[in-house]
Amino acid sequence: MIKLNENYNKLPGNYLFTEIGRQVNAYQQANPDKRIIRLGIGDVTKPLTGKVISSLKEVVLDLEKNVHGYGPEQGYDFLRNKIAENDFRSKGVNIADDEIFVSTGAKEDTANFQELFSSDIKIAVPDPVYPVYVDSNVMAGRGGVYKGGRYTDFVYLECNQENNFIPELPKQPVDLIYLCFPNNPTGQVATKDELKKWVDYARANKALILFDAAYEAFIREDNIPHSIFEIEGARECAVEFRSLSKTAGFTGTRLSYTIIPKELVVYDNDGKAYELHKLWLRRQTTKFNGTAYLIQKGAEVVFTPEGKAEVDATINYYLENARIIKEGITKLGISSTGGINSPYVWLKTPANLSSWDFFHKLLNEVQVVGTPGAGFGLCGEGYFRLSAFGEKSNVEEAIDRLVKLKF
Ligand SMILES: Cc1ncc(COP(=O)(O)O)c(C=O)c1O
Repeated sequence: MIKLNENYNKLPGNYLFTEIGRQVNAYQQANPDKRIIRLGIGDVTKPLTGKVISSLKEVVLDLEKNVHGYGPEQGYDFLRNKIAENDFRSKGVNIADDEIFVSTGAKEDTANFQELFSSDIKIAVPDPVYPVYVDSNVMAGRGGVYKGGRYTDFVYLECNQENNFIPELPKQPVDLIYLCFPNNPTGQVATKDELKKWVDYARANKALILFDAAYEAFIREDNIPHSIFEIEGARECAVEFRSLSKTAGFTGTRLSYTIIPKELVVYDNDGKAYELHKLWLRRQTTKFNGTAYLIQKGAEVVFTPEGKAEVDATINYYLENARIIKEGITKLGISSTGGINSPYVWLKTPANLSSWDFFHKLLNEVQVVGTPGAGFGLCGEGYFRLSAFGEKSNVEEAIDRLVKLKF
């Protein structure tokens, strides 16, 4: 008899975006004359840039004549070199070409990475959180029991106004730590000193940090690190995940990369050390047949001076939307984080409304849609995420409408 992995029974339904969609559709049907503005979106709204499109067209023509069959599972050297050079070495961060593993998404890689580790390790996750870190570990049997919105076996790193949405070091020992900066959903960024605390902790405890830098390209302030590898000692204790999804509009085209320094080790029960780099290579060569040649060629262009300029212009467009959102809600007396080095503005709901009550108020009274913070974890209750992905004119109109709200 084929039997279920019962860990799947421990996953609560992933209703957040389905539920938002259902409620928005119901409202639209009941009010067909109202124009709804969606600021709940976590996907890009601008197409791939001109240089990327030109490259893709050329490669398609080449594919008519030449065979590009299975490529290296860890990515083509031409792309790994461009990434290592442009994202790291040119910025003084020591990363070798072969420490880059090209993949199809930071979602896939952050979800899959945990399978290299024993099932009894202790996991620390931020709250609020990008749910993939939690659910992938639950599927692997590390969650324990789901009670009152949390899993008994995880250590939750609470992020709230008191700690400025920067997680504090755990009070009990943990082995695997998920960090995400700029953060989804809070939009918060971490300084070098804040990351240094985590690097020191991980080194002292032989723990590993999985650092999700999917929104790195939105960082504009000089003093904010773009990579955990800017922190001394991080090569011994951290893996970094990057993606062209939000950077260059590849959410549907799919290309990401994971950086695994060769110094990183994991231990067996006898304390014998094994190289993580070799283990991930083994995993990828077994379970993955590489990112499409076509897409890697398109991605290569993102790292040229012209490609970078185009990508920067798109990100600046989104960041201007974020600025408009943040300025607008600040004028309303609503406090927020994010929106400066991030496409997300995380706001405290006014008048102590719950996340969902605020959602309903916005939808019913001004026809603006955002994301209730409670959907990202218990600490998200009382908060709300507005996204800067969208048309500027819509963002401006949404803010004009918000000003009319009465609390
Ligand atoms: C924090 C974070 N990591 C990873 C991802 C997924 O990235 P990708 O499209 O590369 O799978 C997202 C997407 O929303 C995200 O918010």
